[in-house]
Amino acid sequence: FNIDIPYNEPVLSYAPGSPEREELKQAIKEARVAERELPAFINGERILDGEKVAVHPPHETAFTLGHFYRGTTEHVHRAIDAALAAKPTWEALPWQQRAAVFLRAADLLAGPFRARMNAATMLGQSKNAYQSEIDAVAELCDFFRFNAYFLQEIYRDQPLHSPPGTWNRLEYRALEGFVLAITPFNFTSIAANLPAAPALCGNTVVWKPAETQIYSAVVIMELFEAAGLPKGVINLIYTDGPAVGDIVFKHPDFAGLHFTGSTKVFQELWREIGNNISGYKTYPRIVGETGGKDFIAVHPSSDPEQVAVAIVRGAFEFQGQKCSAASRAYLPASLWPAIKEHVVEKTGSLKMGTVEDFGNFVNAVIDERAFDRITKYIADAKEDADVEIVTGGNFDKSDGYFIEPTVLLTKDPHYVTMEEELFGPVITIYVYEDEDWEKTLHLVDTTSPYALTGAVFATDRGVIEHASKALRNAAGNFYINDKPTGAVVGQQPFGGARASGTNDKAGSALNLHRWISPRLIKENF
Ligand code: NAD
Ligand code: ALA
Repeated sequence: FNIDIPYNEPVLSYAPGSPEREELKQAIKEARVAERELPAFINGERILDGEKVAVHPPHETAFTLGHFYRGTTEHVHRAIDAALAAKPTWEALPWQQRAAVFLRAADLLAGPFRARMNAATMLGQSKNAYQSEIDAVAELCDFFRFNAYFLQEIYRDQPLHSPPGTWNRLEYRALEGFVLAITPFNFTSIAANLPAAPALCGNTVVWKPAETQIYSAVVIMELFEAAGLPKGVINLIYTDGPAVGDIVFKHPDFAGLHFTGSTKVFQELWREIGNNISGYKTYPRIVGETGGKDFIAVHPSSDPEQVAVAIVRGAFEFQGQKCSAASRAYLPASLWPAIKEHVVEKTGSLKMGTVEDFGNFVNAVIDERAFDRITKYIADAKEDADVEIVTGGNFDKSDGYFIEPTVLLTKDPHYVTMEEELFGPVITIYVYEDEDWEKTLHLVDTTSPYALTGAVFATDRGVIEHASKALRNAAGNFYINDKPTGAVVGQQPFGGARASGTNDKAGSALNLHRWISPRLIKENF
């Protein structure tokens, strides 16, 4: 059994008339008539009790896709018990058996589950077909396949010296206890990988998803089941977040948190874990990828059209609801007129509407809370004499939560939308005098507490080298002459530092190491 270095799952085009488009349209049609009951999964059992909550597509709020049942605290206790009961058998399996489950899941996802997973992500999270294919299929297949490969490489790596008469070795154990995965709405692949990566390493998991991602979370559980994941290894529950934390963080067997979401929530959870620290059998591993205020910094030597493409794609794909989304840009005065022309033209050509019309690039933001939060920033900008709406600025929630891609221009590099994460289709631009490039690099580095992604555009190699050094700590994923989004597993391990997370690099061996607790064994002959 040897896992070759995987290939990245090819992204299908969904071009008009293609077989994949026809299959996806059929899956969407089936999902629309189903009005599905969305169960929690505890010890392999489907659970349908608790407060009934309707699920609506964010782009069509009058339509009911299905229902989930907000769980009680009893679900949390049962999920922990199931995870602990499943642990000894799962952990004792040869790692190849665990890897085989996730490799099988990747093949099923690339095959018979592909259309269903895309339909669920498109309808439940309002992601267009292309964005969904990249996330819920390609990236998730890549997480499964590359993580299996990385685990093999970790297990192989035992560079220990054993003098004559001794045998030194490392045994790679899972953590002692269970892991809690708390996941965000915006990437189906991240939501699935947060429980899957620790499970691959022999841990068992309680998984609490965002309530706005439950529709695709259920398909992920069905996929795991079809791939042969034993009961109780991953338990999916819908109990309210603080209630989950309240029980899990007081449990002596709590061994790790795998979190992706906002900085504020992660910090609250860390505090809670810290408060209970003497109650655990082992120090819990805390891995969190959190918010971003991701930048594009453009040197006067750059190509205006290339920059405009990066701004539009980086800021507006999936309505800017990416932790990596470009949301502040620093542009030189000499290039601004040309960049502005391209940005306005390209943004104006983006069609907005439901995901079911494959021609729509812009869909709805996730829910009313997000809509109200993002549009308040736009409304305030309209009132501010020092801020110009370069393009966009309209919004409407009568049918779904639609916000036009919006470009703001500010004279103040510390304007609120240059500093705070909006998590929506809004980018703010600050135009600097060409001779102030050095000062601009300092602004980029110091304006926000985050350090997730960022991009620098320049053609002069000296400038690139200098900017790369000056912004060494400003981004965990640093891009040169490219948009700051779209990291590919196996190519660009992903994560940020400062207020953006623990930078354990999702989709790399570095992340898997956090779910392993090695034992050193020395033996004398
Ligand atoms: P969120 O923080 O609101 O929610 C994340 C998860 O935490 C959800 O499952 C939510 O139910 C849960 N939660 C909320 N309060 C809780 C509590 N008190 N106790 C336990 N659980 C609780 O984030 P979101 O809106 O789902 O996602 C958007 C955020 O995620 C953005 O800030 C974005 O930057 C970040 N994000 C980061 C990355 C990354 O890799 N850095 C990737 C995706 C998203
Ligand atoms: N991996 C995602 C990106 O890079 C978050 O955009």
